[in-house]
Amino acid sequence: MKIVYKVLAYLVAVEVAVQAAVMVYGDAGLGKWVAQGGVLDKTVMESEASPFPEVIGLIAHGINGMMVIPVIALLLLISSFFARVPGAVKAAGLVLLLVAVQVTLGLFGHDIPALGALHGLNALLLFSTALYAARRDRSVGVPAQAEPRLGTTG
Ligand code: HEM
Repeated sequence: MKIVYKVLAYLVAVEVAVQAAVMVYGDAGLGKWVAQGGVLDKTVMESEASPFPEVIGLIAHGINGMMVIPVIALLLLISSFFARVPGAVKAAGLVLLLVAVQVTLGLFGHDIPALGALHGLNALLLFSTALYAARRDRSVGVPAQAEPRLGTTG
């Protein structure tokens, strides 16, 4: 179960990176489309049509963020109870909490843009915490070395 816990924790970190990549991919596509004369308004935003191909990045961000990542984080917390890794439950609990905060900030960012800024910062915190959780089983001890004995020279 330790390996499952570890893989899930690394997966959360990878997913945060994916979220950054697909969001910027979508945003870049939007910018290019507008530069070519496309107009983004409420009607376009609410329509089912894909005005530019990179909109898939924005859609992927929403699905990944609202469904895939929360499920991975929940599985991480469940696996942490059986992983027998010191501090795993706390670390996985923190990851799940940060995911909940991240989704909330993402959704409320539409109404309060300042929350969007916190969404970006919290993503970094989530990434670091997921890596911290993944590396909990690493020994922090210094390799044992023979102590030089006093009074014995050369
Ligand atoms: C560096 C990483 C990330 C960046 C740069 C980023 C950026 C953004 C941006 C710009 C939006 C607003 C999109 C819009 O108004 O259409 C957004 C929305 C959102 N983000 Fe992220 N995000 C990141 C990571 C994450 C992560 C890790 C999660 C989930 C755990 C997440 C979940 C969401 C959700 C649920 C929304 C609302 C989507 C919607 O309303 O359709 N994001 N994000």
